[in-house]
Amino acid sequence: MPLNTPGLITLGIESSCDETGIALYQMGRGLLAHALYTQVAMHNEYGGVVPELASRDHVRRIIPLVRQIMREADVPLTQISAIAYTQGPGLGGALLVGASVANALAYALDIPTIGIHHLEGHLLSPLLSDPAPEFPFVALLVSGGHTQLMRVDGVGRYTLLGETVDDAAGEAFDKSAKLLGLDYPGGPALAKLAAEGHAGLYKLPRPMLHSGDLEFSFSGLKTAVMTLVRQRSNDGEILLDRQTRADIAYAVQEAIVDVLAQKARAALAHTGLDQLVVAGGVGANQLLRTRLRKDIGKRGGKVFYPDLEFCTDNGAMIAFAGALRVAEQQGAKDYRFNVKPRWDLQEITL
Ligand code: KG4
Ligand code: ZN
Repeated sequence: MPLNTPGLITLGIESSCDETGIALYQMGRGLLAHALYTQVAMHNEYGGVVPELASRDHVRRIIPLVRQIMREADVPLTQISAIAYTQGPGLGGALLVGASVANALAYALDIPTIGIHHLEGHLLSPLLSDPAPEFPFVALLVSGGHTQLMRVDGVGRYTLLGETVDDAAGEAFDKSAKLLGLDYPGGPALAKLAAEGHAGLYKLPRPMLHSGDLEFSFSGLKTAVMTLVRQRSNDGEILLDRQTRADIAYAVQEAIVDVLAQKARAALAHTGLDQLVVAGGVGANQLLRTRLRKDIGKRGGKVFYPDLEFCTDNGAMIAFAGALRVAEQQGAKDYRFNVKPRWDLQEITL
């Protein structure tokens, strides 16, 4: 059966960081089932992801999750046509777990595997929603490790417009949250605390806002928060009351969202395109969503988001990107594999 036959089913495996995501995508029908196990509670104790623990936990979760979604979708293993897995970027050990299971299972089933770039998964995830954007569009990729503006002309046709020169937006959320004594992952925790904060009490920097290009910088923000917190701490103990921490959280969220929204708008102006796609974990931030809708809507543009559950790491985006590539005759019954902890999105083509 040729691999672009409608109806062919791709199994997707995501294990690049601290989430095990498994999904089944069928061409022509869509997502059949997906499941996610998050290790957040396990890593919370350590204040961040412990790579070795992450790998071991992926080993425990993948097969039961595969079984679970096969049952839910009522699809026997023998009906799967290809297996897509996250090949990078991410934690080397964690990636190897997903790659090993994908290749072993595919070898047993005599079907092809395909390695997917994690950011391509994020980038294409809004296409799983209805209404979906159409190519070409501008994508704002905002995750724990990346902050990039890309022009997307099609699958595998990505042009970098600008990116962060230091910390990622998610990292800025996470590091500021840690300074405010919040649990990992900091983004959602900081956003929640910010809801209790008041506007205008703290002025935080918005580096590179007027740099005239599409680059970002967030490390100065972290330093500014550090200074604010240090001024009010004793021997490393944070002496801020809850309201003050909420007011600072408010200012942090405002600063990050401000920069992201203004640069995203500038990217649309620069490319002359009118569709913006927001992808990656920070895309779950409600203030960012509201601000972009308002700002870009006012100018006649349209903003697309993945459904909330597909903003952060998940298997659906990997199954979907895999299905699109398999439909283009990609993937091989080779089963030799490597993972790419560092991998530039621009290196990939269709
Ligand atoms: O895409 P993702 O799940 O994992 C990576 O590939 O990095 O993104 C995780 C990042 C973390 O930095 C997390 O704090 C942030 O997304 N994040 C948020 C929110 N939800 C997740 N940041 C701000 N507001 C949120 N609601
Ligand atoms: Zn991600």
